[in-house]
Amino acid sequence: MSAMQKLVGWVDDRFPLTSTWKAHLSEYYAPKNFNFWYFFGSLALMMLVLQIVTGIFLTMNYKPDAELAFGSVQYIMRDVSWGWLIRYMHSTGASMFFVVVYLHMFRGLIYGSFRKPRELVWIFGMMIYLALMAEAFMGYLLPWGQMSFWGAQVIISLFGAIPVIGNDLSTWIRGDFVVSDATLNRFFAFHVIALPLVLLGLVVAHIIALHEVGSNNPEGIEIKKVKDPVTHIPLDGIPFHPYYTVKDIVGVVVFLMVFSAILFFSPEMGGWFLEPNNFIPANPLKTPPEIVPLWYFTPFYAILRAIPSKFGGVVAMGAAVMIMAFLPWLDRAKVKSIRYRGPIFKIALVLFVIAFIGLGYLGTKPPTPERTLFARMFAVVYFAFFVLMPVYTSIDKTKPVPERIPE
Ligand code: HEM
Repeated sequence: MSAMQKLVGWVDDRFPLTSTWKAHLSEYYAPKNFNFWYFFGSLALMMLVLQIVTGIFLTMNYKPDAELAFGSVQYIMRDVSWGWLIRYMHSTGASMFFVVVYLHMFRGLIYGSFRKPRELVWIFGMMIYLALMAEAFMGYLLPWGQMSFWGAQVIISLFGAIPVIGNDLSTWIRGDFVVSDATLNRFFAFHVIALPLVLLGLVVAHIIALHEVGSNNPEGIEIKKVKDPVTHIPLDGIPFHPYYTVKDIVGVVVFLMVFSAILFFSPEMGGWFLEPNNFIPANPLKTPPEIVPLWYFTPFYAILRAIPSKFGGVVAMGAAVMIMAFLPWLDRAKVKSIRYRGPIFKIALVLFVIAFIGLGYLGTKPPTPERTLFARMFAVVYFAFFVLMPVYTSIDKTKPVPERIPE
């Protein structure tokens, strides 16, 4: 027995090292037909780690103080060795994290990965999505630029629309009557420690839940239904390690090429990843002509603005996010994957994607009567996709799903 084997044996007697490795990697049997859509889970994990690591280095030079915050970010950008790289990795990284997470969620949608028995995987995913939105929103206040300040001012005052307790609630969130140093300090605390901890915990729960039931796949076939009678290994399964660890590295390399191209040639992405207004220090006495959130919030922001009443808009915006959590119970189709679904679902999905992207675009533009009309139409399509789902998925003509994954 080698020294290494002895060491592993010593650890195994005290800690479930080898058994955990086997359960989650070398003997976790994943369907053999994963395609590129399955890269986005591991990429999301990589982005989470990258945000935490770059965040730690930013915190070493950032000052969470309304008088010093803006200047400390400029100091990081100009004077700290490699500070510009760390800061851009973090700010561009935030947008790329959302790109990855939206594609990851879309994969779930097209292959029916939210369906039984993966409802909890989806619910944990939705909780991650909510925590991620809070994390990004609070992080955006920290550079204390004009958009940081006014964006926070607009979003926190939305709570004021809630009857009776609204105004007190928004004062309580801010810790002051306006966004101020107190707000900056608490957002800093949430952004650097509270929410990252929540995110890490939720991601662990997400993966434990997934590994309990096993992964779905592009065919939407449950591989656990057909096992080898002797070994009890799913016939259409392959060990996650080494097959998918190696495959995921390919995804990482391609993703890092795209990420680096943006990072080094257009880190602000023409104002989409960092707004020009945020290079002006926060000024509570000067409201910018347009207050818009970053692109990953704009679909919901467009829904907020599409409703004439403030309270109605807040409710619609909240509902637009929360309704996604109910997908496992809204979809009544007999099949999971889009490959076996009928034409109605496919048309509904195309309309939904157009509405979501349309809303996202409109949310970045100042409202005009025509834009508001379009935003209202897209909002109706958005909600109809979910609300009518029990109806159209039960009447849609699906194709028979084979027992085994086709060659
Ligand atoms: C920090 C964010 C997230 C991380 C790190 C993460 C990580 C992962 C990983 C590693 C997997 C397994 C690999 C794969 O199937 O791609 C996975 C699967 C899955 N995730 Fe996530 N996830 C995140 C966010 C979300 C969100 C926001 C949702 C949806 C609301 C979601 C829904 C799912 C579903 C349904 C599966 C199972 C897919 C299948 O088996 O077909 N995840 N996730």
